[in-house]
Amino acid sequence: MNKIIVVAGATGNLGGRIVRNLIERGAEVRVIVRPGSEIEKITKLEKLGAHVFKINMSSEDEISKVCNGASCVVSALQGLHDVIVDTQKVLLDAAIAAGVSRFIPSDYSTDFTLLTPGENRNFDLRREFHTYLDKSLISSTSIFNWAFAEILAYNTPMLDMKKKSVGYWGENPDWHLEFTTMDDTAAYTAAAALDDHTPGKLSIASFRVSPNEMVAMASEITHTAFQLIPMGSLSQFAAYIKSERAANPQGENELNPRWQSAQYMHGMFSVQHEMLDNSRYPDIKWTSSKEFITSLFNRIKQ
Ligand SMILES: NC(=O)c1ccc[n+]([C@@H]2O[C@H](COP(=O)([O-])OP(=O)(O)OC[C@H]3O[C@@H](n4cnc5c(N)ncnc54)[C@H](OP(=O)(O)O)[C@@H]3O)[C@@H](O)[C@H]2O)c1
Repeated sequence: MNKIIVVAGATGNLGGRIVRNLIERGAEVRVIVRPGSEIEKITKLEKLGAHVFKINMSSEDEISKVCNGASCVVSALQGLHDVIVDTQKVLLDAAIAAGVSRFIPSDYSTDFTLLTPGENRNFDLRREFHTYLDKSLISSTSIFNWAFAEILAYNTPMLDMKKKSVGYWGENPDWHLEFTTMDDTAAYTAAAALDDHTPGKLSIASFRVSPNEMVAMASEITHTAFQLIPMGSLSQFAAYIKSERAANPQGENELNPRWQSAQYMHGMFSVQHEMLDNSRYPDIKWTSSKEFITSLFNRIKQ
C-alpha cells in the first residue's frame, strides 16, 4: 500500500512543490487547505493528484480525521505566531490524536539551534513551537536548507546584480554561505517524509559559495568586474538590526520587515555547517552554484 502523507501549506510556494515530489515518489497525498485558500491553487493541487480537504485549520478534530492512516504530516505553513506556533500546535495535536508517527515542522531555514535566541524573530517563533513539539509523543525532523537560493534574485547585499557588487559581514570573504533552491528543498523534504527513520534534523544545501567565489563567478558569467564590499563587523551589523527593529515597531506584525531580512543575513554570516546530509537520498540531483547564478543573470538579460 502507498504511504499516506498529509501536507499543510500546500497552496504555498514550497508546499506545492513538496506535494508534486511526494506524488512523483508514489505517495498518496492529502492536503489540508483553508476554506478561503485560492481556488486556482487548489485546482492545481488536484490536477497533480492530491486529495484536497477544505477544513477549519483551528479544529483539531477536523484535521485529525484527515490524518487518519497517515505516516507523516508535513507542514509548509508560513506566518507569524498565530501560524507557526498556534496553528502548528493544532496540526501537531491532530496528528498525534490520529496516531501519526512522524511530523516535519515548517522550519526550512538556517539551523537556528546553532544561533542564540533573540537574534532572529522568525527563528524564535520556530523555537517556541519546538519547545512544544519536543515534549510531544511524535518523532520530528527539521529540514535545514539555509537560505532559499531564490533570494539571490532580490539584489541583496550578498549579490547585487544592479550595483555589480558582493558584500560580506565579518572578517572572512571566504566564509561559506549555504543556499538551497526551493525545488531541491521540496525534493529532499518529500524523500524525508517517506523515510521512516530520519533523525531530528537534516541539513542540506544545493551549493555553498563564499563572497570571494561569488565575485569571481558573477564577473566570469557577465564579463564585468564585480566588486567585493566589506560591510562591517557582525557586532556592528547586530547593533544596526537592533536599532532598525526599535525604530520600526510596525514590523513586529509583518512577516518580512527589513530588519527581519537583515536578521536572516546575520545568521548566515554567523554559522555554517561542517557536514551536510545531501547524500542521504542519492537520487536527488543538486543545483550547482554556477548553474543557478547563470540562470539569474540570464533572466535579467531577457
Ligand atoms: N530559507 C529561506 O530562505 C526561506 C525563504 C522563504 C520561505 N521559507 C520557509 O518555507 C516555508 C514555506 O514558506 P512559503 O514561502 O512556501 O510560504 P507561502 O508561499 O507564503 O505559503 C504559505 C502557506 O501557509 C498557508 N497559511 C498562511 N497563513 C495560514 C493560516 N493562518 N492558517 C492556515 N494556513 C495558512 C497558506 O495558505 P493560503 O493559501 O490559504 O493562504 C500557504 O499554503 C516557511 O517555513 C518559510 O519560513 C524559507
